[in-house]
Amino acid sequence: MTVLSRGGDPSEPPARLSRGGDPPEPPARLSRGGDPPEPARPPAVGDGPQDPATPLTTVLILNGPNLGRLGSREPEIYGSATLADIGAACSAVGASLGLIVDVRQTDDEAELIGWIHEAADRRLPVVLNPAAFTHYSYALRDALAMRTAPLVEVHLSNPAARETFRHTSVVSAVADGTIAGFGPRSYELALRAVAGILDG
Ligand code: DQA
Repeated sequence: MTVLSRGGDPSEPPARLSRGGDPPEPPARLSRGGDPPEPARPPAVGDGPQDPATPLTTVLILNGPNLGRLGSREPEIYGSATLADIGAACSAVGASLGLIVDVRQTDDEAELIGWIHEAADRRLPVVLNPAAFTHYSYALRDALAMRTAPLVEVHLSNPAARETFRHTSVVSAVADGTIAGFGPRSYELALRAVAGILDG
């Protein structure tokens, strides 16, 4: 896992975008030999490896196939910003909202589903651009149905204004909402939506 933004902490290492090929991380909160057992408590939104004294919530910003090509991929539709540019913008917005932003991209359906399982287990909010999986991946939809923390579906373009096959989203019904058509700002708006949901 990689963290792009840690709300305003200047001591953080430089941002890095996680790609599908990254080696898997060890599970969070693995107890080390000799550690006293942690007292049982109910899991909370944002539960994860972050310092429990820090009231920051981690938001996974997950991106599906071909989104690693942003910048050169059909710029007339998707614009010129790269995913790294979008991640940097999310990092800044996340910091202003007190959110830790973890941006990942994969072309692999199984890996994306693994990240959704992680979000479900850690009760992490998710901003998801499922890309083409939006339109047909029932496996992704079923994985998303397991999670309980906020989920906002995002698209750079407006699929409703494009080819007919893009008019169907199998994800929307299990999301809290969908933001589409605003280019990279769709991500910023989605993060603000997550913050609003968490604030109640
Ligand atoms: C997209 C829209 C999808 O239809 C397409 O398959 C993508 C990108 C968007 O962000 O506009 O890959 O999710």
